Amino acid sequence: MSNWWQDRIVYQVYPRSFQDSDGDGIGDIPGIISHLPDLKELGVGILWLSPVYSSPNDDNGYDISDYRSIHPAFGSMDDMDRLIAEAALLDIKLVMDLVINHTSSEHEWFQKSRDPGSPYRNYYIWRPGVNGGPPNNWTSFFAEKCWEYDDRSGEYYLHLFSRKMPDLNYHNPSVLSEIEDIMRFWLDKGVSGFRCDVINILFKTSLEDGRKKLILTGSEHYISQDGAHGILRHLRSDVLDHYDCFAVGETVFVTPAMARDLCDTSRGELDMVFSFEHMESDQIIVKWFKRRFRAGRFARVITRWQNELAWNANYLENHDQPRSVSRFGCDAAYWKESAKMLALFLLSLRGTPYLYQGQEIGMTNFDFKSMDDVRDIESHNVYRLLRRWHLPKKMCWHIISTSSRDNARTPMQWNTSGNAGFTTGTPWLSTNQNYRRINAEDQRKDPSSIWNFYRRMITLRAGSDTLKYGTFHARTTSNRLFCFEREYKGELLTVLISFAPKKQRAPCSGGLLVSNYDRTSYDGMLSPYEAVILRNEVDQ
Ligand code: NOJ
Repeated sequence: MSNWWQDRIVYQVYPRSFQDSDGDGIGDIPGIISHLPDLKELGVGILWLSPVYSSPNDDNGYDISDYRSIHPAFGSMDDMDRLIAEAALLDIKLVMDLVINHTSSEHEWFQKSRDPGSPYRNYYIWRPGVNGGPPNNWTSFFAEKCWEYDDRSGEYYLHLFSRKMPDLNYHNPSVLSEIEDIMRFWLDKGVSGFRCDVINILFKTSLEDGRKKLILTGSEHYISQDGAHGILRHLRSDVLDHYDCFAVGETVFVTPAMARDLCDTSRGELDMVFSFEHMESDQIIVKWFKRRFRAGRFARVITRWQNELAWNANYLENHDQPRSVSRFGCDAAYWKESAKMLALFLLSLRGTPYLYQGQEIGMTNFDFKSMDDVRDIESHNVYRLLRRWHLPKKMCWHIISTSSRDNARTPMQWNTSGNAGFTTGTPWLSTNQNYRRINAEDQRKDPSSIWNFYRRMITLRAGSDTLKYGTFHARTTSNRLFCFEREYKGELLTVLISFAPKKQRAPCSGGLLVSNYDRTSYDGMLSPYEAVILRNEVDQ
């Protein structure tokens, strides 16, 4: 028996950039509601909403100032209730982003905690300075220091992200019970689960100095600690177990062994995790230093995770990653072919597939010309750091333009009208000018489009127990070809994926189930970026 979250496709909406309904240049909940029928038509079964809560937007909503209210730019709580209800009518489940490692510094708890005598003091991690400096040598995820001195309280507070995002203190049981109440609030409203932001770093075992590293000095004190597992078990038994819902964790720096612990059903923590190792296969130590994408390396990482975990959360894009067609495919000569190849690849893996808005039409990395166009706080911090290291401007810009999170955050390209139909106003982040060529309206009408291919693959998967539940076995993981098999109850599907811009021989027999090219049978030759699934029957 499978769970509903294993049978459905998840679609992530980054609300700021999805659809603006009132002309203020920021996407909103009524805009999302207006596209629910399109998502249904595509075959989406679960909608994951990046944060829509009240927030001063230091990190576009990942800095929450009130977990029980909606940011006015996104709409009202009535809009949210309507979204939940209208999605339910279409049998689309809604999953919220649960950001509980930190709050915004404008959250009431934090403002109160600045008073050393307040009962909220221990909601956050406050420490006196050491030798006139911060309490330890840790460094933050956003390329800056991670302690901020607060005049009012005469101490420093810890923030693993921006200074406006103080970390909560999970040594204090009151924090856990506040979070559990927030979860119940949303589950009682009818949401079906949570995507849990950086959930494996919640618990800081100690605040000792960390081993000096190029990035994230101190992380050995908080990555996947026993305390974090304990908290997850509480969230499961106190809250999640009482609802028909699921939890997917965003887990940084996890190995397959750590992920297995997090997802082991007998431990009662998470249902699945987003890992990062495949996203790291084109980088050197940090995401800002990219190396040439080598499909073989990528395929071996995917294979390892497929083999070592019972169930994966499979993704190629999200709001933090560059666009997959620009990164793992070819966004020039083979844009359409390679985007469809990635669709077939993602939907043929074992695990729940996650699509990110725009992926279904092959949206590409941004076409910005300078830092003036970039809005992301992390990109600006890193740019400043690189300039401090005296790297030439041109090189800094190259680094930002290939790796910035804003690559994924440009407005959704709906049609050929101004600003791609995203807004009638001025978009908060510029639209990619390729929207006249790449947009949803045109692709829905074109039977050979990327959108229609996603739809076809989603339908194929929905009707195939082998694609959903079959075993995974890799046959070839080279730089040009990734070949793997899925097998279930006497059916063997062989998936051949070409990552090469050239034709190649890949002999294999079987009936052709699907190809991203227009063909009716397979002759052992793959066209550039071609992907096929071949079907055979085998003895059980
Ligand atoms: C991970 C989120 O995906 C990212 O967008 C955010 O900046 C950090 N967590 C901090 O919440």
